[in-house]
Amino acid sequence: MARKLIAGNWKMNGLLAGATALAGELAARAKGPQAPVCDFLVCPPAQLLFPVAELLEDSGIALGAQDCHWAQAGAHTGDISAAMLADTGCSHVILGHSERRSDHGESSAQVKAKAEAAQLAGLTPIICVGETAEERKAGEALQVIEAQLRESLPEVGDVVIAYEPVWAIGTGLTATPGDVAEAHAHIHGLLATWHGGAAADATPVLYGGSVKPENAAELLAVDHVGGALVGGASLKALDFWAIGEACS
Ligand code: PGA
Repeated sequence: MARKLIAGNWKMNGLLAGATALAGELAARAKGPQAPVCDFLVCPPAQLLFPVAELLEDSGIALGAQDCHWAQAGAHTGDISAAMLADTGCSHVILGHSERRSDHGESSAQVKAKAEAAQLAGLTPIICVGETAEERKAGEALQVIEAQLRESLPEVGDVVIAYEPVWAIGTGLTATPGDVAEAHAHIHGLLATWHGGAAADATPVLYGGSVKPENAAELLAVDHVGGALVGGASLKALDFWAIGEACS
C-alpha cells in the first residue's frame, strides 16, 4: 500500500526566525532514529522556500509552494512561476485552495491552467476542491466537488487531490468519517470513470480541514484517504509530526 502523504500548508504565516526553527525541528525528527511512517511535505510561503529548502536537505521531507501562475514567465507583477518554484527545490504546489478561490476569485479553469504549468515545470500539483456550508446544506456537496474536479484537473499527468470542505477549514469543525468516506469514494469513482481504475488507485486524495493529532488516526483510516492537508496544526512541529505518526 502506498505511504500516506502528510502535507503542511503554512498559508501566510511565518517569518524567517520562527519558520527556520520549525523546519529545523522537523528535519531533525525526520533524520532521527525513528523513521517517519508517512511522506511529509511542507508548503511555506514563497519568501521562505529557499531557507526551508536548505534546512530540509537530506531529511526526506519534501518542499512545496502554495500557488503559481499559469504562464511560464513575463509581465505578471507579484506572481511566481512554476519554474521558479522548481528552482527553489519544490516538488509540489498547492493549487485552487478555497482561500485563493475566494480571496482572488480563482476559477477552476485558471486552476487547470496552473496545474498544467506546474506539470510542465516538473511539479506535482495538489488540486483542492470542496463545498461550502451552504452547498452542503442544500445537498449539493458531491455535485460541487464533481464540477470543480471536472474543470480543474489537467487531462494527463500525475496530480494529488485534496478534498477540503470549506466549512471545516480553520474552524475547528471536522467532517465526520462518514462525510469523508462519502466524498472520497465519490472522487475515487470519478477518477476511475475518467482515467481508469489503476489511475484512480494511483492518485492520492488528501483530506483537509481542521486535521489535528486528536482526529488524525480516525480520518486517515477512512477508505480512499491518501493523507492529509494540514493548516493550523502544521505550524507546530510536535502536532504535525504526531499527525504523521497517526498513519501507522
Ligand atoms: P486547517 O487548514 O487545517 O487549519 O483547517 C487546512 C487547509 O486549509 O489546508
